[in-house]
Amino acid sequence: MSLRTLRFLTAGESHGPMLVGILEGLPAGVPIDFARVDADLRRRMAGHGRGKRMKIESDTARFVGGIRLGETLGSPVAWLIENRDWVNWQQVMSVAPTGSGGVAESGNTPGPVETRRITRPRPGHADLAGGLKYDRADLRDILERASARETASRVAAGAVARQFLECLGIRVASHVTRIGPAAYAESADAVPFDAAVAVEESPVRCVDTAVAKAMIDAIDEAHNELETLGGTFEVIAAEVPTGLGSHVQWDRRLEARLGHALLSIQAQKGVEIGPAAWCATQPGSRAHDPILSDEHDRFARPSNHAGGTEGGMTCGSELRLTVHMKPLATLRQPLPSVDIETGEAVDAVVQRSDVCAVPAAAVVGEAMVALVLADACLEKFGGDSLRETKRNYEGYLEQMARYPEH
Ligand SMILES: Cc1cc2nc3c(=O)[nH]c(=O)nc-3n(C[C@H](O)[C@H](O)[C@H](O)COP(=O)(O)O)c2cc1C
Repeated sequence: MSLRTLRFLTAGESHGPMLVGILEGLPAGVPIDFARVDADLRRRMAGHGRGKRMKIESDTARFVGGIRLGETLGSPVAWLIENRDWVNWQQVMSVAPTGSGGVAESGNTPGPVETRRITRPRPGHADLAGGLKYDRADLRDILERASARETASRVAAGAVARQFLECLGIRVASHVTRIGPAAYAESADAVPFDAAVAVEESPVRCVDTAVAKAMIDAIDEAHNELETLGGTFEVIAAEVPTGLGSHVQWDRRLEARLGHALLSIQAQKGVEIGPAAWCATQPGSRAHDPILSDEHDRFARPSNHAGGTEGGMTCGSELRLTVHMKPLATLRQPLPSVDIETGEAVDAVVQRSDVCAVPAAAVVGEAMVALVLADACLEKFGGDSLRETKRNYEGYLEQMARYPEH
């Protein structure tokens, strides 16, 4: 539902040979900087609290279709991202039958088994529901795809979408506002877009140094206590024109499309458009953003409590989306579970895992927002070539500047 013009698919397992992705529907002539795609992939791998896996992988996207001499062709853009860890998993993740039935992984230490079979589902992960639904006796068949390793392919797609958006002047950034107990004060001012763009140096993607320190301490403490943490991040899009999405049909409303895209990211459990929880506590006269006119703008908005949308459409303000991530489900001090093979009460399996992945999730959030905005722009402006899309876009901006002239 979230994409109406673009089509986007990923495939690949966490410890398989590679991840693949296809993005179809971009116009021809969009310049693609491959170094920037890889830079986004590196941003997804960074962050205090990531596990060993991120030290093994050094993601890079190899484009294999839809681009020639650095520009999109209008045909499907396709890429591969190799899993460097695959060398250690060739037997376990073999596509061909290995001739071995496998031995159940015994718990905390992966043993020298041929298929590292998993039978102890982790509460909070996809293991049990997926095992039951897909009728798999080895829960690895579920967790290999449920794993957020898949988000590397989303970030590659988002990096391409972002470069298209930048041709129209639209930019996307993110920053983290909470990790476990460490957060901004409720009364804190909104973080400016440019501060979010400049947050890359922070290991927790937090703009405020004191809050960032509290976040790092919280992650270290969680690590020592064998815990995991969730948190909250904000994705901001700037220079978004009025009128992306529509009020006329439920599945065209942009908030719904953004919510779908963001909630499709593993472990993201809540999305707010603007300060929605705060607005719910306020009377209407304080919650809504007056319409004024100043010397620069005929329809100036002195505040942005709406978060950039009104009536399912962008309204000319920055788009601001707050996303809440649950704590990671793989615990080194595992919760009670039941062995699917024996029915015995056991501890859930312990896998290699992150302590906190909120900064990485924020980068994935940017990618998903970029994809939805690119889709909404192409829905609104169309175009088989970038030149055509830009001409349509500029015509629309001109028309809006003269509104309501007929
Ligand atoms: C960037 C990122 C990294 C993640 N890393 C882990 C991890 O190391 N361990 C873990 O248990 N879950 C991790 N998750 C979350 C799981 O993938 C997710 O909880 C699981 O697939 C079940 O889906 P659900 O939480 O949406 O119900 C991560 C999520 C994201 C977005």
